[in-house]
Amino acid sequence: MGTLTGLGFGLGLRTDHYQAILESKPRVDWFEALSENYLIPGGKPLYFLDRVRANYPVVLHGVSLSIGSSDPLDETYLQSLKQLAQRIEPAWISDHLCWTGVAGKNLHDLMPLPYTEEVIEHVAGRVRQVQDFLGRRILLENVSSYVEFRQSCMSEWEFLTEVCRRADCLILLDVNNIYVSAFNHGFDALDYLNGIPVDRVRQMHLAGHDHCGTHIIDTHDAAIVDPVWSLYKAALRRFGVVSTMIERDDHIPPLAELLLELDQARSIAEEAFPNQVAA
Ligand SMILES: [Fe+2]
Repeated sequence: MGTLTGLGFGLGLRTDHYQAILESKPRVDWFEALSENYLIPGGKPLYFLDRVRANYPVVLHGVSLSIGSSDPLDETYLQSLKQLAQRIEPAWISDHLCWTGVAGKNLHDLMPLPYTEEVIEHVAGRVRQVQDFLGRRILLENVSSYVEFRQSCMSEWEFLTEVCRRADCLILLDVNNIYVSAFNHGFDALDYLNGIPVDRVRQMHLAGHDHCGTHIIDTHDAAIVDPVWSLYKAALRRFGVVSTMIERDDHIPPLAELLLELDQARSIAEEAFPNQVAA
């Protein structure tokens, strides 16, 4: 394993960096745009996204699908997402393996699911509906979590794998989220990586977090820590040089700082697979 596939090394597209990106055209292979920020036609965000798209590949990443909820899928949201995809032509569309609300209430958080056969069937059916509607396979991302359901009868990685197999969807593997959840729940992050099927992983996320001693909070507001870089190295060895992207959602630093972090990801991949990564 270990061929260079996919888009390379990307960054999350953030408002603070719009001007710098358009003016300096930085060495970023691609950008991940948060779908919900660009659903209103004619807005300023869409103006910038169009311009970024003219120069870079873009993928769309959502937080509103609520694929695990027992509420019906939000058709208005899906329709807007489809229109955005027709306009932007993203390399792919992703969202999270979670639920964000129930009974019409939005919790504005990515909540974990019970890992049961019944939930696998429920989620896989909804993913198939979404994929049929969008006319493409989607990527599901593993979320970080702080609590677990007593009803769970399998590991998170078994659950994720089975949902993706039944729905025939792909995986966005968040390496930091695996690290955070492994610490919070006391499992081995390498067991997680080894339990995920290589051929379904299309993208990886890297991010920073807040270590509180007894638990870790997934804040996305700091630099990536060494143990997460080490786990990324292990992920590269298993999955190859999958498209990788750095997520910074708070305390957004100047673009140059994130470019340095992205170079670190490139160097780690180059070290793992010499001569396969564009220097
Ligand atoms: Fe993520």
